[in-house]
Amino acid sequence: MLRDWRPREPVYCIHPHVYRKTVRTFLRGFPGRVLYAVKANDDPDVVQILHRSGVEHFDCASLAEVALVRRLCPEATCYLMVPVTPRGDAGTAQRDYGVRHFMVDHPDRLDSLGSEIDYGGCVVFARMAVSHASAMMDLSSKFGAPPGEIPRLLTLIRERGAEPALAFNVGSLVTQPEAYRHGIETAAGILSSQPFQVRLVDIGGGFPKAYPGFPVPPMADYFEALTESARALPMAPGGELMAEPGRALAAPGLSAVVEVLLRKDDRLYINDGMYGIFWELRFKAHMRFAARAYRGGELLKGALAPFRLYGPTCDASDVLPGEVELPTGVRAGDHLEFGQIGAYSLSGRTRFNGLYSERIVHITSPDEQPPG
Ligand SMILES: Cc1ncc(COP(=O)(O)O)c(C=O)c1O
Repeated sequence: MLRDWRPREPVYCIHPHVYRKTVRTFLRGFPGRVLYAVKANDDPDVVQILHRSGVEHFDCASLAEVALVRRLCPEATCYLMVPVTPRGDAGTAQRDYGVRHFMVDHPDRLDSLGSEIDYGGCVVFARMAVSHASAMMDLSSKFGAPPGEIPRLLTLIRERGAEPALAFNVGSLVTQPEAYRHGIETAAGILSSQPFQVRLVDIGGGFPKAYPGFPVPPMADYFEALTESARALPMAPGGELMAEPGRALAAPGLSAVVEVLLRKDDRLYINDGMYGIFWELRFKAHMRFAARAYRGGELLKGALAPFRLYGPTCDASDVLPGEVELPTGVRAGDHLEFGQIGAYSLSGRTRFNGLYSERIVHITSPDEQPPG
């Protein structure tokens, strides 16, 4: 591709075989129903590849995501798993797209949701706030009712005629399986004092991806912790655990190829940056992506040195945090490929400064492994 095209704009490379393997491993390991969190990567090709690889359930954060999944994967089940939605969207999701799973974290939301949807035949999750120090990002500071308020919320959901269920989210980039154990134990405490049992407990996302300099325990450790702690969860017959992985499914199968535009000593100016594919680094400054360099389409070898990477916009903050190890001879015209960059990258790019690449390709040879 690099030899033939010498692409002038960033190219995002989907590696379908990597996605297939990632999905297989997750579906085999997680002891329950797996919903892909579309927000992590809503690229239509990625969504379809994940679906064809075995993902049948989709955690959607908006009506637009529901519509996207419905269009691409008509057989899949969409869940609108956000405790507040723009007026009318939940009603449209139920009426036009057959959505039956919704989420609330406050009694008042049951009124506005009830004005849009028919609760009969629906499952409504009460979202509980649970945090754990091992999560790089706390997802309970904005959404989630305190555990003490959950019994009342579950009762109110039942009174409205919907099936009550429980959900929590221990955070994003959870670095210890212990976090899930903690969440499930909190849930078990609540559910064991309930006068009725629930059938579904959704433990959210947060499954991490290892990045250079950021090792995490193997995914099998997370599955083991979940399987073990879930045994103590009191659930109705036919009870099921659910998860909403985003990063763990989306990250591995995408790499980004960028061009070096200018070198000034150990500073490289490249044609993508913090307003583009690297935007998540604004919030996760510790994160690095495995990188390699190419010249004329051939891998550039040799001793490595640290470089600072600058994006293409005029904004001085458009610089990647930290340094990236690259061959010392790297120069303008060379290309760099960053691996494992499929989560929170394509889905959040901006058009700031008019820079936005539409080039997305599939790397179909299973011999081609992305860096990392
Ligand atoms: C409700 C909810 N579910 C799932 C996810 C996916 O999280 P992750 O990509 O860490 O698995 C998020 C992330 O923001 C979320 O807010």
